[in-house]
Amino acid sequence: MKGALKYTIYKISILIITIFLVSKYMDRDEYTLSIIKPDATSRNLTSEINEYFINNGLRVVEQKATTLTRAQAEEFYAEHKARPFYNDLVEYMISGPVVVQILSGKDAIAKNREIMGATNPANAIPGTIREKFAESVERNSVHGSDSAESAKREISFFFNYDEVTNK
Ligand code: CDP
Ligand code: MG
Repeated sequence: MKGALKYTIYKISILIITIFLVSKYMDRDEYTLSIIKPDATSRNLTSEINEYFINNGLRVVEQKATTLTRAQAEEFYAEHKARPFYNDLVEYMISGPVVVQILSGKDAIAKNREIMGATNPANAIPGTIREKFAESVERNSVHGSDSAESAKREISFFFNYDEVTNK
């Protein structure tokens, strides 16, 4: 075989392998942190809320019930420290048990935000969790990571990130 032909075949093979690896990488599942908040756990809504995730193609891959300490709630919501609702939010988040969970699936981070609905239930569209269950802008039933960076930070806050995402 001529050298030039061999070289072309070699280049095409590298291209095919690259396309394969890139498409595999783009297709991989995402992971996001969800919290079922105290207003929802107190009304026993965990199973009903989980149905929203499952029916929309997300999997609940980790889930644990816990009660946040004040220090945990303050740190988890540190980005909102300067906001007027911060102190009330912390009080509310430690007022009862929560269920922290990892959801996975294709585009899980954005998909979960869609399933949750707007922060203020008055603006949440029908069919979303917050439209159905939220009691107010504060007592809005669920938390969901808002970006890949938040998801990594928030999952690591409650779980061993590498152990979960490398399964
Ligand atoms: O939870 P989400 O990402 O949709 O909203 P956020 O802007 O990150 O706010 C975090 C949480 O603070 C909300 O989910 C509410 O529980 C609470 N909050 C509030 O009590 N009053 C507001 N005006 C805005 C948010
Ligand atoms: Mg947020």
